[in-house]
Amino acid sequence: MDTWIEILQTAVHAPSPHNVQPWRVRLLSDGEADLLMEKRRTLPKEDVTGSFIILTMGLFIEALAVLAANRSYELTYRLHHEPSAYTPEKIERAEGDLLTFARLRLRQVSGLRPSGFDDALFLKRRTSRVTLSPAPVPAEAARALADLARAWGQRYEQFSDSPLIERVLARNTDALFEDLNAPGYHDEIVEWFRFTDRAARRTRDGLDYRCMNTSRLAFWLAAKLPSLLRSAALRPVFRRTYRRQLGTVPSVAVLAGAFWRPEEAFETGRFLLRFWLEAARHNLYIHPYGNLVTNRAAAGWCLRELGVPDIWLIFKIGFSAVPPKSYRRSVEEVLIA
Ligand SMILES: Cc1cc2nc3c(=O)[nH]c(=O)nc-3n(C[C@H](O)[C@H](O)[C@H](O)COP(=O)(O)O)c2cc1C
Repeated sequence: MDTWIEILQTAVHAPSPHNVQPWRVRLLSDGEADLLMEKRRTLPKEDVTGSFIILTMGLFIEALAVLAANRSYELTYRLHHEPSAYTPEKIERAEGDLLTFARLRLRQVSGLRPSGFDDALFLKRRTSRVTLSPAPVPAEAARALADLARAWGQRYEQFSDSPLIERVLARNTDALFEDLNAPGYHDEIVEWFRFTDRAARRTRDGLDYRCMNTSRLAFWLAAKLPSLLRSAALRPVFRRTYRRQLGTVPSVAVLAGAFWRPEEAFETGRFLLRFWLEAARHNLYIHPYGNLVTNRAAAGWCLRELGVPDIWLIFKIGFSAVPPKSYRRSVEEVLIA
């Protein structure tokens, strides 16, 4: 089973919302494995359609397929259920904490072409919440990202008008502050906050304050006293602090297309893995602003302001210093006996 282990060692570095890492794997033989989803690692309050968790499973399968291809293995899969079986209501009703997702098959194929994405890109790719440099995304990189999106039936659009960027950042801040005051959203996300390196190292998942580019105090206050973000006196201070934290933002970009239906989300996840690796190939980092998509009022505002329908990811994009590496569960923790 060495090939599975080797592939998994790199695949676990795939991104997931709040670094929840919902994937578990049961190895059956050299050529077969089952992929499962851990119920307690889903986000029913924020991801009300289940699209983001389904996307994450598609993204992880694509990570395995890319890494397999780099070793002359073809990875194929058969979903155990339709993606629509993983909406929050259905997950809630399912028994036990582990939900079977897909049967994976690995087959050596001589002469198989590598994926075009080196293994090293999996470690180079990171979310960068630190300041970006003012340098714009080079035209060639923007073209490569747009072409890749088009090949998957998706759309990549980039905006570099600074007043527009400032409006987007301000709207994101408002949505974030509002959502942190919604009890369901708040309790769910805060469960993934890791306030100390010790806590982050213990669980090896979640939003580690080292990676959030925030002070530990601000991170803690947002979690424990979110009403401060609404206080008339303090709100402007927190808004300014948060804006400073985001740093220089030369470009904001969106990915748009089929996503909100479960079967679309799965395929879109496969695309997102490739998109993010492609960005890393061009030394570009992204930082998604999830609240602009999951907060309905903010999503409506983005549609009007940016004029792009079906947006499912909005993010800053550009060059930055190498951001801190977020932890991952080990392969041993991902494997199920
Ligand atoms: C679909 C998706 C949505 C995400 N949305 C956000 C977001 O709204 N804000 C954020 O800071 N990070 C977001 N992230 C980044 C994750 O938090 C990040 O991938 C995870 O913490 C692991 O860190 P890494 O990307 O540096 O490996 C998102 C990731 C994915 C896959």
